[in-house]
Amino acid sequence: MDQEALPQFRIGQGWDSHRIETGRPLILGGVRIPSEFGLAGHSDADVLFHAVTDALLGALALGDIGMHFPDTAVEWKDAASEAFLRHTMELVAKHGYAIVNVDSTIVLERPKLKDFRAAIRDNLARVLNLSAGCVGIKFKTAEKVGPVGEGRSCEAQAAVLVSRVRVGG
Ligand code: C5P
Ligand code: MG
Repeated sequence: MDQEALPQFRIGQGWDSHRIETGRPLILGGVRIPSEFGLAGHSDADVLFHAVTDALLGALALGDIGMHFPDTAVEWKDAASEAFLRHTMELVAKHGYAIVNVDSTIVLERPKLKDFRAAIRDNLARVLNLSAGCVGIKFKTAEKVGPVGEGRSCEAQAAVLVSRVRVGG
């Protein structure tokens, strides 16, 4: 894209879903949540980090998480999803943008997550290099309806705003 035509602000949104599986850890936003079940996946199945990663890739129109981190790649097997997010942040910076804020929703029937809101927010803020006040973390049940409501999966949604900081990329 013509550098002069690059917009000052760009938004991105991301969504992810993982199947619930016993014997797996429940890791949300890099935080281990005490639970008798976790999420299935090739990586650590951190549904929130995956949604935020896709939101950032979307803001820069750089495709999606599967394109950058294919689940067939041995290098990403059981990877901490923080690595996806860090790699994506490097792409954002390389394209001359910085993250302004992020907002997110985790949809999970149980366990209750509200006691972990500060820990998840602070960890996501640390990884994204944002102040905690620029990181929204929301939780919802699905009211017992559908795969999430029946306790078979967990979903996350994220929205990000990025701002152009320099001519680059
Ligand atoms: O889905 P619902 O509107 O009933 O959720 C009510 C509140 O319960 C949410 O606003 C959130 O604070 C909390 N919650 C939670 N952990 C979940 C789901 C919801 O802490 N897994
Ligand atoms: Mg995922």
